[in-house]
Amino acid sequence: MTGPSLRAMTTSDLPSVLELEAVIFGEEAWSREMLAGELGQQPASRYYIVAEEGGALVGYAGMLAAGDQADVLTIAVTTSRWGRGIGSLLLTALLAEARRRGSAEMFLEVRADNVRAQRLYKWWGFSEVGIRRGYYQPSGTDAIVMRRDVAAPSDAELSAAGRPGLVPDSGGAR
Ligand SMILES: CC(C)(COP(=O)(O)OP(=O)(O)OC[C@H]1O[C@@H](n2cnc3c(N)ncnc32)[C@H](O)[C@@H]1OP(=O)(O)O)[C@@H](O)C(=O)NCCC(=O)NCCS
Repeated sequence: MTGPSLRAMTTSDLPSVLELEAVIFGEEAWSREMLAGELGQQPASRYYIVAEEGGALVGYAGMLAAGDQADVLTIAVTTSRWGRGIGSLLLTALLAEARRRGSAEMFLEVRADNVRAQRLYKWWGFSEVGIRRGYYQPSGTDAIVMRRDVAAPSDAELSAAGRPGLVPDSGGAR
């Protein structure tokens, strides 16, 4: 079987994305209206991509990038495929697009209790810059704010040491 591939997310992906969104984020899942609204802002200020493997949608990610600052808005991978580099593939594609759009820095928020995602971001060169108390609703969980320079490659990118199947900074879906 071939590895995961990336392409732009379109409205025809919404059913699969919403299904995954509900499984992964539960009560904090985005609604169809919200996601459709986000896709409506492509390409001006948003960039949404999906990862496919064997014809199935296995992950997706979205970013706000217009001007100097880029923000990771969402990233998710099907639970059964965690730890195989798909999250890294999505994240490095967002970084590549932010670079193309001329953003200088990239920010994201991650749940304080989401250690796995924090490890992924640290691996790709993000560091903690603050805490937003009670950011995630309705649970009231704190968010850790992380950032990195878009231009400066992280140690992970420089070493090019990937897991099997990991394609660092593939250049995105387009
Ligand atoms: C967070 C998430 C997107 C990561 O996706 P993933 O496909 O498992 O990510 P990867 O396989 O690329 O990397 C994750 C792991 O690999 C590590 N990693 C990534 N590249 C690596 C490399 N080349 N060598 C060693 N470790 C690496 C990360 O630090 C992390 O560590 P772990 O496996 O020891 O826990 C996924 O777990 C998910 O969907 N979680 C639920 C939704 C979520 O939390 N989203 C983030 C909201 S802020």
